[in-house]
Amino acid sequence: MKTSAALDRISPSPTLAITTKVQELKRAGIDVIGLGAGEPDFDTPDFVKDAAIEAIRRGQTKYTNVDGTPELKDAIVAKFKRDNSLDYSPAQISVNVGGKHTLFNALVATVEAGDEVIVPAPYWVSYPDVVQFAGGTPVVVAAGPEQGYKLTPAMLEAAITPRTKWLILNSPSNPTGAAYTAAELKALGEVLERHPHVWIFADDMYEHIVYDDFRFTTIAEVCPALYERTLTVNGCSKAYAMTGWRIGFAGGAPWLIKAMAKLQSQSTSNPCSIAQAAATAALNGDQSFLAERNAAFKTRRDLVVAMLNDTPGITCPTPEGAFYVYPEVSGLIGKTTPGGKRIDTDSDFVGYLLEDARVAAVQGVAFGLSPAMRISYATSENILREACTRIQQACAALK
Ligand SMILES: Cc1ncc(COP(=O)(O)O)c(C=O)c1O
Repeated sequence: MKTSAALDRISPSPTLAITTKVQELKRAGIDVIGLGAGEPDFDTPDFVKDAAIEAIRRGQTKYTNVDGTPELKDAIVAKFKRDNSLDYSPAQISVNVGGKHTLFNALVATVEAGDEVIVPAPYWVSYPDVVQFAGGTPVVVAAGPEQGYKLTPAMLEAAITPRTKWLILNSPSNPTGAAYTAAELKALGEVLERHPHVWIFADDMYEHIVYDDFRFTTIAEVCPALYERTLTVNGCSKAYAMTGWRIGFAGGAPWLIKAMAKLQSQSTSNPCSIAQAAATAALNGDQSFLAERNAAFKTRRDLVVAMLNDTPGITCPTPEGAFYVYPEVSGLIGKTTPGGKRIDTDSDFVGYLLEDARVAAVQGVAFGLSPAMRISYATSENILREACTRIQQACAALK
């Protein structure tokens, strides 16, 4: 038997591949520092774990509604109101098995052969692959460091065609940490208002991880005219350090939410009942730990940005949010390693870092904008200092 054409259109996640490689090296006793993973090093808060244990004891261990328990949908309705001033009814809420599943459901439920989906680059690795799996065509629009890694209204206007079905907007961004201000979203919104056939997939997964008094806003909030055709996407994975629990969710048009539930009813059925109880507690609970964790993330961001900018050949913009930096490495292309290998691409550079410096980052080409790399700083300051020192030494050794 041969694999399907839909499967053959996608590749395994390159970020998960790096994480697996680091685990293998560590098991082989090699001292490697992994800066590839896209998850917080913090633990799930105790009050969230307690709610899950309580749910097990109470017997919330059976099937639930396909796309979320009434309690979790109510908590999500309240979250959208509290954090985003968005009014959704429970019928406008979909709960899925992680944010990646939300993306999968939304695109597979709506995209047809020939449809285009605008994906600004650098992008989260799953966007183009899920578009392709669904049969659509990703229209990648490169937004480099010179424009703060953000799409401009002119670039958006130029990318829209009669076949455009969705625009994917991710703020703060994985992999760059760049986040759109309300004014920037408004300017993009003015373009979108002129093209009523384009829907907006607003991926706000890193909403709560922002620094330096940056005020997070989402496009349906800033541009009420786009509310009807925006799917506002969020989840528990990053802010609540719940990557393993697998809860993502979205608010949007009732017909779309229903379509996503139909697909989910024939694939995963409901997300884990216990994880849903935990997510309900996370969203309804005291949110003050978020600020404490952000303070730690900010110290780490500042450390990494400063040490990388002290490295000849690397230029590292200061991101507004998330827990990634996306330094540009064009100054290192064309150099030669001590072992005599030429660095022609960011993959060559990241391979050299792993082999010689024992630091794992992810090559920019995986995110659609080169030459660069993604570094996750969701680890301790000591480890980050050691990793950046190794990177500095590896770069100094290049000829
Ligand atoms: C931008 C973005 N959106 C969505 C997700 C999905 O998160 P999960 O499926 O773990 O909930 C991720 C995870 O890396 C992400 O970086």
